[in-house]
Amino acid sequence: MKKIIAANWKNNGSKKFVKDFFDYFLDNVDTKNEIIFFPPDLYIDQVNNYRNKEIFSLGGQNLNTNPFFKTTVTGANSCDMFLDNNCSHILIGHSEVRAQYNDTLIFSEQLKHVNGKLKVIFCIGEEELDRENNSTSEKLSELLDTLVKNFKITHIPVFVAYEPVWAIGSGKTPTLEDISYIHRFIKNKILEKLPSLKEKDIMVLYGGSVNLKNAKDILNTPYVDGVLIGGASLDVKEFTNICNLKI
Ligand code: 13P
Repeated sequence: MKKIIAANWKNNGSKKFVKDFFDYFLDNVDTKNEIIFFPPDLYIDQVNNYRNKEIFSLGGQNLNTNPFFKTTVTGANSCDMFLDNNCSHILIGHSEVRAQYNDTLIFSEQLKHVNGKLKVIFCIGEEELDRENNSTSEKLSELLDTLVKNFKITHIPVFVAYEPVWAIGSGKTPTLEDISYIHRFIKNKILEKLPSLKEKDIMVLYGGSVNLKNAKDILNTPYVDGVLIGGASLDVKEFTNICNLKI
């Protein structure tokens, strides 16, 4: 079954890294899975130069950090700039961005600004404390509200990345049962709030310490439509092997 395998490179890489990565990746990748790369903004153009084989899609990691898009903003990128660089996707609401700005207004404005032009992967996840207090569902519902309130018909399919904050870069992951339960919860919550959607219109990716050892099991878990990978996506051999998994 075709799954989404997405690489979030965060603020890693260099021109040499990109060259070496794609020299190996394009020679060795052999998959029907849908691959998406989220390089740092400054390397999107370089990665785009390797796209002639149409093996992967490209996305931006963060649209903007200023809610006032109508004004000119130093240090910002517009949606059209990502489109101009052949990006089809954008991450919104990653916990590392939330930790800096922690303002749902920003993510609402980003969703409005995208206005269906890019496919949004909306990231949500509970903190360690939420988990300890058994308030994971409440936290996820609250974070999903921003997505649901700004939903437009052009956003189908709706992509959500479930990334528990405590699992990111920690080597820890929820149990497969928990991942399945939470992905189902996310899908049901969206369907409850947006009854015009069907289950197939909602794709939920898991992110947080995914690697070659656990990727196949996670991808085979019910209600998991794909994975969003940080650290392990920087190791070209490991990432290529994950892409090549037959699910
Ligand atoms: P790691 O895979 O390094 O835990 O990062 C996950 C992540 O933040 C992807 O967006």
